[in-house]
Amino acid sequence: MKLVIAKDYEDLSKQAARLIAEEVTRHPSTILGLATGGTPVGMYQELIALHKEEGIDFSQATSFNLDEYVGLPGHHPQSYRTYMEDNLFTHINLPTDKTNIPRGDAADLGAECKRYEQAIAASGGIDIQVLGIGNNGHIGFNEPGSTKETTTRVVQLTESTIQANARYFHKIEEVPTQAVSMGIQTILGAKKIILLASGKAKAEAVHSMLEGEMTPDVPASLLQQHPNVTVIVDEEAASAL
Ligand code: GLP
Repeated sequence: MKLVIAKDYEDLSKQAARLIAEEVTRHPSTILGLATGGTPVGMYQELIALHKEEGIDFSQATSFNLDEYVGLPGHHPQSYRTYMEDNLFTHINLPTDKTNIPRGDAADLGAECKRYEQAIAASGGIDIQVLGIGNNGHIGFNEPGSTKETTTRVVQLTESTIQANARYFHKIEEVPTQAVSMGIQTILGAKKIILLASGKAKAEAVHSMLEGEMTPDVPASLLQQHPNVTVIVDEEAASAL
């Protein structure tokens, strides 16, 4: 895995946005794999700026998001669909019908997971996948214990993930306890991966991902077997290396 230590969050966001913009410029019909959480917000802001100022064109691109909360309809204020609309989609020219996010409110979640996995495969596969990392080393919502054979499925969120995500909800009881998430195998199927981590709280997870053994106990460590991963961290997230 290639490690880039950025000066700070702004630098990290700019470097990540540049990699995406280069990909879309080189290959306009790129299939983007997108992530939510606090970390990629700055990267999305930079991408919006690159779209507005340099004309980076997303009109032929397609996107697949990693995950969505079970039980939340797309229009729910805390759904990942709403996050993506607010932070990126409504500000660039990626066609709405080319933006894919699992339906957390599907009546048949098993069928929805299958449909999502098949849609990714039918697109030709993800060209560049953006990832954040949870404090416990999760990627997407692949919590500790997720093996490299996992595909899109319904997952149970751990207590620590529920607590970490409670900041976006009025009360912790409102945080969904399950999500639909791409699996590790789905993520490893991407041609390129960029993983972003910022802040001291991520230092231990970054250390285990890069320097620990490859184990489902730290799902991000399973990325060690992928041939094209760039990890961009700021100095605080690199502080345990
Ligand atoms: C959630 C998301 C992950 C994200 C993680 C860390 O669990 N499903 O994709 O990487 O949170 O989020 P943050 O960047 O806010 O620390």
